[in-house]
Amino acid sequence: MQDFHRQDNELHLEGLALNTIADQYGTPCYVYSRAAIERAYDAYADALGNHPGKICYAMKANSNLAILQILAKKGAGFDIVSGGELERVLTAGGKPENIIFSGVGKTDEEILRALEVGIACFNVESEAELEAISRVATQAKIPANISLRVNPDVDANTHPYISTGLKENKFGVDIKRAFDVYQHAHTLNGLNIIGVDCHIGSQIIDTSPFMDALDRLLVLVDDLAEAGIHIRHLDLGGGIGIQYREEQAPDIQQYIGSIIRKLGSRKLELVFEPGRSIVGNSGALLTEVLYLKPGEHKNFAIVDAAMNDNIRPSLYQAWQKLEPLAINQAQESLTWDIVGPICETGDFLAKDRELAIQSGDRLALLSSGAYGFVMSSNYNSRGRAPEILVDGDKSHLIRERETFADLIRGEHLLESES
Ligand code: LLP
Repeated sequence: MQDFHRQDNELHLEGLALNTIADQYGTPCYVYSRAAIERAYDAYADALGNHPGKICYAMKANSNLAILQILAKKGAGFDIVSGGELERVLTAGGKPENIIFSGVGKTDEEILRALEVGIACFNVESEAELEAISRVATQAKIPANISLRVNPDVDANTHPYISTGLKENKFGVDIKRAFDVYQHAHTLNGLNIIGVDCHIGSQIIDTSPFMDALDRLLVLVDDLAEAGIHIRHLDLGGGIGIQYREEQAPDIQQYIGSIIRKLGSRKLELVFEPGRSIVGNSGALLTEVLYLKPGEHKNFAIVDAAMNDNIRPSLYQAWQKLEPLAINQAQESLTWDIVGPICETGDFLAKDRELAIQSGDRLALLSSGAYGFVMSSNYNSRGRAPEILVDGDKSHLIRERETFADLIRGEHLLESES
């Protein structure tokens, strides 16, 4: 979070005071640091070094066009999970040959479009999907590169909603069945088997589950080689955690270094699908205190951002650091729950925070760059917040605040009733 720093009492992002940004664009708003995004991407690219492979940014974490454009310009690949994400990344200048397509429910239309533009690989999540890709590829006469997402049955020790590599999860093919499924894939038309992949969960702080998964995948790769199925790339998914509170985020250099060492003499390209660790700590959600409601049991600070802007605290009990934009020296410090205007008890951004605040003060909810804006909604007919990219001492509006016209676009009154 080094790009956020305090200078003369004012919280800054890169070279700009966040209060200046809030004055210009209003609150609530999302702000991101270009430098932070580039540095996080470079950490992966540098760690991979000359080892052949790709860093495919999992764009579900933050799919703003300008952010994709910055990463595409740096040579990033992209991990997509829908036709919408495919069109976004192509619009932003991403190269099809650097795109991998994950997700459990790809439709025929999405498969066809991905084949037509020439993506690098489909990460296949089930036998039924394998059949579908084979059928669509054969009809279109465009061979599909595929990798099987294997569920290695390791516990990633993360929140149950973002853990994906256990056998009770819906993702991937059980590692015990993977060999047979590859053999079956080998007999299907229109498929080139090129990889094996897994993704065991998100916000993972201890890298040992990744290493366990890797060991299991390497056994599979060796067994397949013996059976004449040669795997070209190994994709370990995303999932590397970031520091929200006191947790120590894994060192990317060490993580990728130990993977490369484990490969031994195997000639395998490496693919990674990081999302959160590229953008998470680059961004903040800025909000203004509307009303203070101190009480006997609880003190509530009602702010202008809500669960529709950032659902992570409500959905995952996520803890994100909250910082005042300017330190208020006139107020005494009290313990506050920071809640939004939405009519739900679950509408909160933070609980039990020690803050000296008054109405009109502004706060930054840090670590909001990943799974923040992208998970926002129009619940309670609230327009979604604008997104602003800070680059040195300049700011760029990369997404406008939604207006009422945006909110009702596509809706129709009943003609007969008017
Ligand atoms: N690859 C696949 C196949 C995935 O499903 C995901 C995330 C990623 C890569 C990127 O994982 P990351 O590096 O960001 O951990 N909304 C939740 C996180 C959901 C993650 C879903 N899959 C949250 O706010 O914590």
